[in-house]
Amino acid sequence: MKRQVAIIGAGPAGLLLGHLLKSEGIDCVVLERQSPDYVLSRIRAGVLEQGTVAMMERLGLDARMKAEGLPHDGFNLADGERLIRIDIKALTGKQVMVYGQTEMTRDLMDAREARGLEVIYQASDVALHDIESDTPSVTYTKDGAEHRIEARIIVGCDGFHGPSRQAIPASVARHFERVYPFGWLGILSDVPPCNHELIYANHERGFALASQRSHTRSRYYVDVPLTEKVEDWSDDRIWDELAIRLGPDAAAHITRGPSLEKSIAPLRSYVFEPMRHGSLLLCGDAAHIVPPTGAKGLNLAASDVHYAAEALIAFFGRNDAEAVISYSDKALARVWKSERFSWSLTRLMHRFPEDGPFERRMQVAELDYIASSEAAQRSIAENYVGLPV
Ligand code: APR
Ligand code: PHB
Repeated sequence: MKRQVAIIGAGPAGLLLGHLLKSEGIDCVVLERQSPDYVLSRIRAGVLEQGTVAMMERLGLDARMKAEGLPHDGFNLADGERLIRIDIKALTGKQVMVYGQTEMTRDLMDAREARGLEVIYQASDVALHDIESDTPSVTYTKDGAEHRIEARIIVGCDGFHGPSRQAIPASVARHFERVYPFGWLGILSDVPPCNHELIYANHERGFALASQRSHTRSRYYVDVPLTEKVEDWSDDRIWDELAIRLGPDAAAHITRGPSLEKSIAPLRSYVFEPMRHGSLLLCGDAAHIVPPTGAKGLNLAASDVHYAAEALIAFFGRNDAEAVISYSDKALARVWKSERFSWSLTRLMHRFPEDGPFERRMQVAELDYIASSEAAQRSIAENYVGLPV
């Protein structure tokens, strides 16, 4: 099989890129290890930057998002006593869209046949070959048969554990990582949200986040030591902890209910450089991970896809080799700025084991400064809604 582009991974990055390339007449195929149901079963965050929404609008795949998504004009920081509202609409003129990432992936999946996007699911043993040449290829096994795709460009959208990043030689690879000393215990429940906007809280006892999927489905998190086991956290224990950490105003509006899903996820900041080597480009979690504090994971994947699509459209449409060569530097410039925001908000909103009374006072003082400074709020707002691509 010959294609102009072979994309590995049919998560949000791979599907978004596949649709964008297909819409520009670029011949591509997406290879996915799992089944469609498995991909949709992954519980993921759901705050979309305006740029991500714009990409779905460009594809004409924004109808359900507009019908079911929740446009938010602001969000809140809480210090255990009060809510500090960041009015992102007034400060930036933009909104964010609260819409489950799984739903965006579903919209991209559902459109693949109508748009003629070829996605091969349950493709196992995917391997990359000759990525430093102009004639790279990808091999995989499907239904017991070996297959090879000859492509001019391969794009690794295969997440943190996929094979693409590993295909780049150690001699050129640079890794940057911070592993956080806590995880997020998340609970999903069919109860109305406690607030119409998100609340990120830094309480003496730790971090909490009140988020939502709809007017009737809520998503909450508390941070826990990495030694904790989810089975040690009953629903009631989680609701009790949320009521304390989110503060009295929010607690008064929490509706308790049974958990539909409950899990602990570790937090890390990670960046791999370069995001291009030879004929291989990397997008999304294949190249970087952010702590979920800034809700940047999916949005950073979307901005990589924007740059990758731009480069490949120029490459195949105008024979512009420089567009592909400059992809990594362009994507990384925005990656690092999102990494910084996610790291800084994580640092501000969590209690670190090594922190003493002085560090706690620094956090309280910074929240107090944010509460009193429009400039500080504007800085947070412009990062939260997404810096320009
Ligand atoms: N072969 C084929 N597919 C693979 C392989 C492989 N060897 N390894 C992984 N994959 C697939 C996974 O099954 C998954 O569907 O690649 C896809 C990667 O998707 P994500 O992990 O969702 O990564 P990405 O598309 O970059 O999304 C980035 O969205 O997942 C959220 O917030 C999360 O930050 C993340 C963001
Ligand atoms: C979520 O709704 O799951 C969510 C929202 C915002 C975040 C992280 C997770 O920063």
